[in-house]
This record gives sequence, structure tokens and C-alpha cells, in this order.
Amino acid sequence: MITISRSDPRRLFWGLLASSFTASTMKRSVRPLFSALFFGFLAATLICRVAIRRRSFSFSSAIAELGNSGLMTEELVFNETLLEFAAIDPGEPKFKQEVDLISDYDNTRRSHRRYFSSMSRPIDGRRRGNRNDITSNFPVTLRSPQVYRYWSEFRRNLQLWARRKAYEPDIMLDLVRLVKIPIDSHSISSKRYSSCAVVGNSGTLLNRQYGDLIDKHEIVIRMNNAKTQRFEKKVGSKTNISFINSNILNQCARKESCNCHPYGETVPIVMYICQPIHVLDYTVCKRSHRAPLVITDPRFDVLCARIVKYYSVKRFLEEKTAKGFKDWSKDHEGSLFHYSSGMQAVMLAVGVCEKVSVFGFGKMNSSKHHYHTNQKAELKLHDYEAEYKLYRDLEYNPRAIPFLPKAFKIPLVKVYH
Ligand SMILES: *[C@@H]1O[C@H](CO)[C@@H](O)[C@H](O)[C@H]1NC(C)=O
Ligand SMILES: *[C@@H]1O[C@H](CO)[C@@H](O)[C@H](O)[C@H]1NC(C)=O
Ligand SMILES: *[C@@H]1O[C@H](CO)[C@@H](O)[C@H](O)[C@H]1NC(C)=O
Repeated sequence: MITISRSDPRRLFWGLLASSFTASTMKRSVRPLFSALFFGFLAATLICRVAIRRRSFSFSSAIAELGNSGLMTEELVFNETLLEFAAIDPGEPKFKQEVDLISDYDNTRRSHRRYFSSMSRPIDGRRRGNRNDITSNFPVTLRSPQVYRYWSEFRRNLQLWARRKAYEPDIMLDLVRLVKIPIDSHSISSKRYSSCAVVGNSGTLLNRQYGDLIDKHEIVIRMNNAKTQRFEKKVGSKTNISFINSNILNQCARKESCNCHPYGETVPIVMYICQPIHVLDYTVCKRSHRAPLVITDPRFDVLCARIVKYYSVKRFLEEKTAKGFKDWSKDHEGSLFHYSSGMQAVMLAVGVCEKVSVFGFGKMNSSKHHYHTNQKAELKLHDYEAEYKLYRDLEYNPRAIPFLPKAFKIPLVKVYH
């Protein structure tokens, strides 16, 4: 999503990195680097969820046939207080601190080392490995000259990425240029895709046979490497965009040549960065990927975060009228609150497709969280109900969605339950 060269828009900016790093040095040096580094910061933390977790929810089918988008055009007045609160990102100070720390990381300074290890500690309380292990492992790997060179490339990437983190809603108008064109291998067209299916991972997919319908879309977007084998009738078999959060790549990065291609090596990956340190995985893995590996633009991340927070706070205040903004923060893990991968994938599709069909988002008492795993728990980090409300507005009342630029044309959206 971040492109730099005008003359060749398909060449991703990030792809220009690490030019001094040849394929062979990669083989020799990066592998051990990986095991060691990742043992340190990556093994532990999961700020974004690794996968999409959903349970039961269903909309009344009575309104399902009412039609779509554009029909409702009257201007809505948003509550300013709510908009302002939604605009606050309580994770911002920590984000800045991490970027700064990496930027002037000095492996000879003990205090830095200590900071680093704390940055990489799991935030959900489940600590794998203890702190001393991390501190003692991490700086050792950084002492080698190759790693050092590699580190500075990572740092440069990180700074370029971090500098773009700002609220600029017009990013929605630029997604075709920033995402579609870089990932299209056949045609470089500035037209949106004619139709896209965004396939979530909800267990509700097992109740239906949407496979053929999904595959009929021009583009199929799947999330967090959910598998399709054995589920083809339910979820389809084709994949054109693999959308993941950086925790997924982080796990793949520990495998041989960052293998993160359950859908085949030629399927482009679009990824959002959960934590600044994950730009490291990106920097390394980018080199061994045949298909484009694209990082979502931080301006797009900021926009998604605001929208979801708005829906979450609004829902909270409506349901629990006695409580105020402060209580929302308490209830939603404050600075850790985050949109789900599925939400951002839907917004991406909204930006690059003429028609968007959404499958496998929702929950039902009788269904599993994921169609492909037995995962049970769901963290409060996400507010799925709020996201469902957003999808409903995308479908029936797009003008009710705050923060989107007026000039942006919301495509037809249909949510399949
Ligand atoms: C906006 O929302 C807040 C919080 O619910 C409420 O206190 C305030 O009265 C609302 N403002 C308007 C103008 O409706
Ligand atoms: C989408 O992916 C399928 C294979 O999974 C491929 O045959 C098709 O050409 C792709 N479509 C586009 C527009 O790239
Ligand atoms: C789903 O479960 C909740 C709580 O367990 C219950 O209140 C609700 O009635 C159930 N809904 C259906 C449709 O069974």
C-alpha cells in the first residue's frame, strides 16, 4: 500500500529495501537471526488477534431485501462529543515510545535492552518464557555486523511507516492506487474490481454452502490464512488476496523462507502492522516473497480505528445509558482496543471494489467461532457487535458511517448470513 516510485507504481516502496542483502546471505544469516530475534520479541506478544473470532449474530431477514447503499442520502448529524472521543487513540503514546526506542536503540545500553524486552512481553498476561531469557537473548543476536546492517534497514522502514500515521480520511479515495495497482499482476487498471467476496472465518459458514457463490466473485479476499481445503463447498476455493495481521507473518517468519502462503506463493498478501516491531518481519520476509507483500497505509489504519471506536462507544452508551466514556475504556481494554482483521479487510474491499459481498462474519450460539479451528475464547480487545453494526450501515445506511470523506463512493455491500 505504500508506493514510492512514480515511474513504476507497481514496484512497492518496501520492496526496495535491503538491497545489500543478497539471497545467499539471507539464507546463511537470516535464519538464525530469526530464531533468536523472534524468540525475543515475537514469540510472545499478540496485540492484534491472530484470527477472527466471531459468534452468533443475525440480522432480521425482513430488511434484507430492502435494497442498498445510495438510497439513503440525507445528511446525518453526528454527535461531536462522540466523534472527538472516537478520535483519541490511547495507544498513541506507547506507539511513539516504541518507535523512538527502536529508532535510537543502542544495544550496549542496558536500559534499552530492558525496555525492549518489556515491549515484547505478551499483553494478555500469558507470558511465554521469562523476561530474563528475552533480555539475554535479544542483544546477543544484534552484535553481529550483518544483523546490525539489517537492523538499520528495518529502522528506516519503520520511520517511513510511522511518519505516515495520521488521520487523513481521503486515504479511502486512494486505495485503488495504493493497493489494487501494486497487487494486480495482469492488468494495471485504475478501475475498481467488479466484485469482491470478503470471507471471514466464522463458524456460521459451516451452516451454508456458499462456496460456489464466493468463487464467482472476481476477487476473493481471505483472512489470516484460514484454510480452504476440506471446506471448499462452504467457503470456496479461490483466493486473490490474503489479508493478514502482522502476528500471522510473525509466526510464518519463523518458518523456512518466511513461508506464509497457504493459498499459493503467487497470492498477494496485504497486511496491517499490529506493533511497530513487526515491521522487522516485513523487512525480512519481503525479500523471499514472490507475490507482493503490501503493508496497509497507516492513514488507513487510523481511519479504521476511528470508525470502529465510534461504533463501539455509541453502542456502549446506547446500551448502558448510565455509563460514560470512561467506562467504555475500562470495558474495552483501553489502549489495546482494536479493530479486527475482518473489519479492515471489509473496508479495503469497500475501497477497491464496485460490489462487496461479505461472508462468514457473524455468530450464532450453535456455531463454532471459526469454521476451521476449535478456538473458543474471545478477547475484549475487539467489539464484534459494533463491527456488525458498521457492516449493517455499509449495507443499508452508509451515510451513518462517520469519518468517511464525502467524495468517497461507497459500493454496494451485501452481507450473507
Ligand atoms: C453527545 O453524546 C454525549 C454522550 O452520550 C451526550 O452526553 C451529549 O449530550 C450528546 N450531544 C448531543 C448534542 O446530542
Ligand atoms: C483470482 O484467483 C484465481 C485462482 O485462485 C485466478 O484463477 C484468477 O485469475 C484470479 N483473479 C484475478 C482477477 O486475479
Ligand atoms: C444464545 O445464547 C444466549 C446466552 O447463552 C441466550 O440468551 C440466547 O437466547 C441464545 N439465542 C438463541 C437464538 O438461542
